[in-house]
Amino acid sequence: MTATAHHCDVLIIGSGAAGMTTALKLPGTTRIAMLCKDNMTEGSTYYAQGGVAAVLDEYDTVDSHTEDTLVAGAGLCHRDVVQYTIERSSDAIRWLIELGVRFDTEQQPDGSNSYHLTREGGHSHRRVIHAADATGREIAEALNSKVLQRDNVEVHERYTAVELITADRIGQPGTHCVGAYALNLATGAVEVFHAGAVVIATGGASKVYLYTSNPDTASGDGIALAWRAGCRVANMEFNQFHPTCLYHPEAQTFLVTEALRGEGAHLILPDGSRFMHRFDERGELAPRDIVARAIDHEMKRLGCDCVYLDISHKPAEFIKQHFPTIYMRCLELSIDITQVPIPIVPAAHYTCGGIMVDKQGQTDITNLYAVGEATFTGLHGANRMASNSLLECIVFASAAAADMARKRPGPAEVEIPAWDESQVTDSDEDVIISHNWDELRRFMWDYVGIVRTNKRLQRARRRVQLLQQEITEYYSNYRIGNDLLELRNLTLVAELIIRSAIARKESRGLHFTLDYPDTLADSEDTILVPPNFG
Ligand code: FAD
Ligand code: SIN
Repeated sequence: MTATAHHCDVLIIGSGAAGMTTALKLPGTTRIAMLCKDNMTEGSTYYAQGGVAAVLDEYDTVDSHTEDTLVAGAGLCHRDVVQYTIERSSDAIRWLIELGVRFDTEQQPDGSNSYHLTREGGHSHRRVIHAADATGREIAEALNSKVLQRDNVEVHERYTAVELITADRIGQPGTHCVGAYALNLATGAVEVFHAGAVVIATGGASKVYLYTSNPDTASGDGIALAWRAGCRVANMEFNQFHPTCLYHPEAQTFLVTEALRGEGAHLILPDGSRFMHRFDERGELAPRDIVARAIDHEMKRLGCDCVYLDISHKPAEFIKQHFPTIYMRCLELSIDITQVPIPIVPAAHYTCGGIMVDKQGQTDITNLYAVGEATFTGLHGANRMASNSLLECIVFASAAAADMARKRPGPAEVEIPAWDESQVTDSDEDVIISHNWDELRRFMWDYVGIVRTNKRLQRARRRVQLLQQEITEYYSNYRIGNDLLELRNLTLVAELIIRSAIARKESRGLHFTLDYPDTLADSEDTILVPPNFG
């Protein structure tokens, strides 16, 4: 049977804010194929709550937003990249509004309307533009509908990218990227996508942890694909835990936006007392790493399952108007947030490290770009400041699209062999996959979580090596499916996280270890180089 082959100028893997912005910013004459491993809207973008940080208020400045980002990033942000991103923030918002994104407005005393800006941890200014507490849904739906109107974009839903194809991998001269293999989840067949340029926009890897705010798509696929193809990754030890995710025995982890704290919510212990000022003078609005660590500390000290977030002192109408999604979700679980505090715990939320890219989203491999949460641009340092992520997606995707528009990649003119399945059979032991999934995510939570030690990291390293041996064997012998692909990718990402965490001999931002509690005077990125680099 001959495998299905697709030909395009640009292959975009991922349909979140980063992937869709890239598609919309490329010229209408570029033939684009877009892959999404679930339906088109599924991904972290859709679930974003708080908003997008940007300099929009006449009293705010690029310098102020830059300084706040640098402080939150604990000495590891690249100042030039921070400035580059924030200088483009108001244009990014203007573009979203022109596309039809409806951000919240408020009436001014003189009767005019202006955009409502909220506040989140680390921001010294109100600068987060939002659509109530469902900003991601508003952005995703607006971008999706525009992408679907473009006749130069072919969207392939339920296709999982399996492996990138570089020239050398198929016996051709050079190391540039010429396409990707993707598994069609409807048929189980692996198809070939020939492309002049490939863009990884696959999002983060927070699913490597047992408890996460992220949807199932966040399995680090793009980071693993890029690493195996020969790209460097950086700062993988900085895994952000969002301080406030709903804790309820019968509910899946659900984010409770930081904007609640921005609008005055208090963090309290089971006895009703506030505690954040014991940890940081900024209290509930300290950067996320500090708040998550303080909650973890108090939960361990008191032996309690959760702490609480209380906004019930605000007028009920204000709460329902600003946080309708959270209000309704909690009410379904019999928690009326206008009356009682919300039980919360920290959960894995954001991958600060990733594939190394320059300001145009170009990776180490020619014709391979990466944008969005899958990347390391230098913006976030050791701790991403709230609502800087969607901004990064739009700014870097726009720059990558402009770079590709200049270079005008045509379809790859090389012969690409079909995916070889001649040596594999159907698995009769899927339990290996489900068992290893559970094991991986639990030991990452227990040993590579908010507070680390040498001993825990070494334990995690031994376990991940064992899992990798089993998975490699399984991958070589059995036909692939989505669960196996995600497990293989997450296990590799776990290894990169553990290696990076072991390499950092200090505590900084999101990486806190009891063995090296101090922060070194000199800050350096942790750069890992794959064996096939260069
Ligand atoms: P995603 O939106 O995650 O999209 C990834 C895409 O890649 C999906 O289409 C997925 O199907 C596809 N994909 C993945 N692997 C493959 C594969 N192998 N093959 C094919 N397709 C693949 N940030 C903010 O700035 N402000 C906020 O208010 C905010 N709130 C958040 C709330 C929640 C609950 C979460 C989870 C995150 C939040 N973030 C927020 C972070 C932000 O939403 C994400 O960092 C951002 O949306 C990432 O966008 P992306 O396009 O890189 O990836
Ligand atoms: C939130 O709304 O708290 C999430 C914001 C973010 O992750 O940037």
